[in-house]
Amino acid sequence: MSLPKKEKIVSGEDVFTEDKYIDRKLRPKTLSEFIGQEKIKQSLLICLTAAKQRQEALDHILFNGGPGLGKTTLAYIIANELKTNIRITSGPALERAGDIAAILTALEEKDILFIDEIHRLNKTAQEILYPAMEEYAIDLVLGKGPSAKTIRLELNHFTLIGATTKPSLLPSPLRDRFGMTWSLNYYQTKEIEKILENSAKILGLKIERQALQEIAQRSRFTPRVANRLLKRVRDYNQVRNKDGFISKNIAKKALDLLGLDKIGLTDMDYKILETILNKFKGGPVGLKTLAISLGEEMSTLEEIYEPFLIQTGLLERTPRGRKITSKGLKHLGYQRGMF
Ligand SMILES: Nc1ncnc2c1ncn2[C@@H]1O[C@H](COP(=O)(O)OP(=O)(O)O)[C@@H](O)[C@H]1O
Ligand SMILES: [Mg+2]
Repeated sequence: MSLPKKEKIVSGEDVFTEDKYIDRKLRPKTLSEFIGQEKIKQSLLICLTAAKQRQEALDHILFNGGPGLGKTTLAYIIANELKTNIRITSGPALERAGDIAAILTALEEKDILFIDEIHRLNKTAQEILYPAMEEYAIDLVLGKGPSAKTIRLELNHFTLIGATTKPSLLPSPLRDRFGMTWSLNYYQTKEIEKILENSAKILGLKIERQALQEIAQRSRFTPRVANRLLKRVRDYNQVRNKDGFISKNIAKKALDLLGLDKIGLTDMDYKILETILNKFKGGPVGLKTLAISLGEEMSTLEEIYEPFLIQTGLLERTPRGRKITSKGLKHLGYQRGMF
């Protein structure tokens, strides 16, 4: 997805090359270091303990959730907690039958196979995956035409961890083959603050608590965005402030420069809200009409901007379309009843 630079900073996706580096460096390694998502953590702890006691492979797991909320992190944590190998791949990377067959046959007992963006697996790959998940076997077709033969290859008992930002696009036979499905939600601001505190420690930063709060408030409830903003604040501080200590004021200035308002809204978020308000009398307006009016793709609107605007309570999804809320109006500086 191509986004303007400002929007990329808050997109949650790992769009920058530096993201891979920050992600790796700041990624928690154990379940106890993983902040928030308490329900998932508790259930996971039980499953992990039970699988360890039985010395069996863990059941297949599906993680749903927006970009930057911790899906990949959890997959690594599971492998780390179980002390197993983890093999990382993604839906679009498994183009041919041979790609996925090669990976599956190389897995050892209890290994983890992580497939990111699993909703983007093509049909061929999905069909190989079904018996692999269910019966730990794959059926390979050798040759063509009437002389073609099918041979069955047994696989080691592995665990598939799938991650998707769009669970609705997952075919139901695939969805049904996961023993557990968990959805990651947006984080509380307090949790983001804790994540930032840990990140600041790892990065060796001297930073005021209020500066962390300032970043947390603009992080769109998303750990990856929070860590990215922290890095930008660090850069700003290094260039503009000689004494090295990051104060609230410094953080504020750095974040203002990035074009984020006090709750993390960007120009684009404003443009969306203002378009609904000015062109559609505050809504409801259908997604398609809105997308055309904004010159944006529907999927970008729906997956990147809308969830956050809904989470902040500024936008509402109704059966008749998107509608600005009274909180949204207030945020834009209008009062209810003005139009
Ligand atoms: N619960 C969490 N606690 C601490 N850090 C987190 C948490 N979730 C995500 N992060 C941070 O955010 C980054 C992005 O998370 P990641 O797992 O790659 O997201 P996703 O795979 O869902 O896009 C990680 O590198 C990690 O630093
Ligand atoms: Mg990921």
